[in-house]
Amino acid sequence: CDLVVLISGAGSNLQALIDSLGNRNPARIRAVISNRADAYGLQRARQAGIETRVLQPRDYPDRDGFDDALADLIDGYSPDLVVLAGFMRILGPAFVRRYNGRLLNIHPSLLPKYKGLDTHRRALEAGDSEHGCSVHFVTEELDGGPLALQAVVPILAGEGLENLAQRVHEQEHLIYPLAVRWFAEGRLRLGAQGAMLDGTPL
Ligand code: GRF
Repeated sequence: CDLVVLISGAGSNLQALIDSLGNRNPARIRAVISNRADAYGLQRARQAGIETRVLQPRDYPDRDGFDDALADLIDGYSPDLVVLAGFMRILGPAFVRRYNGRLLNIHPSLLPKYKGLDTHRRALEAGDSEHGCSVHFVTEELDGGPLALQAVVPILAGEGLENLAQRVHEQEHLIYPLAVRWFAEGRLRLGAQGAMLDGTPL
């Protein structure tokens, strides 16, 4: 199962994926693509001997132009799955449709709660007793696609933002490689009614 991973920043989820790929994991990262030349994740990829590419939005006249160029770049690697790992750019409907059923994202909240940014602060301010992270198939609705896997993180009494963010991040590093592995093994897929694991709706 060939993967292309899209990043914009630190790439700690990319690192978790890289670390999970061994001889018993059928997934293979063909390339890492960033919309920012300074993304630290690019260094992680190079260190792991993975091809890296940078595609900068400012080199394209509009969103569609960028999305089309990105899709062409991705398709050059013929991936079975495109993995968004901290890719901080909204992808347009045409792009999302093109990769229907083979585009995964990880989001730092228990979706459908807290779509968008600033999720840890919002969970704390709401006085929630639990928070977490979600892996989902990407659809045209931002952070709204069918859920594949979630990890729940109880919010500790008096817990601060940094601490909570770090504990959620640790869970991301567990569930994202697991979901990708399930996909690579043919166990996780997007059916007509939503995400399916081993033939059972999630
Ligand atoms: C993660 O919190 C992820 O949930 C969100 O962006 C962040 C990426 O972190 N989509 P990293 O670049 O993988 O360290």
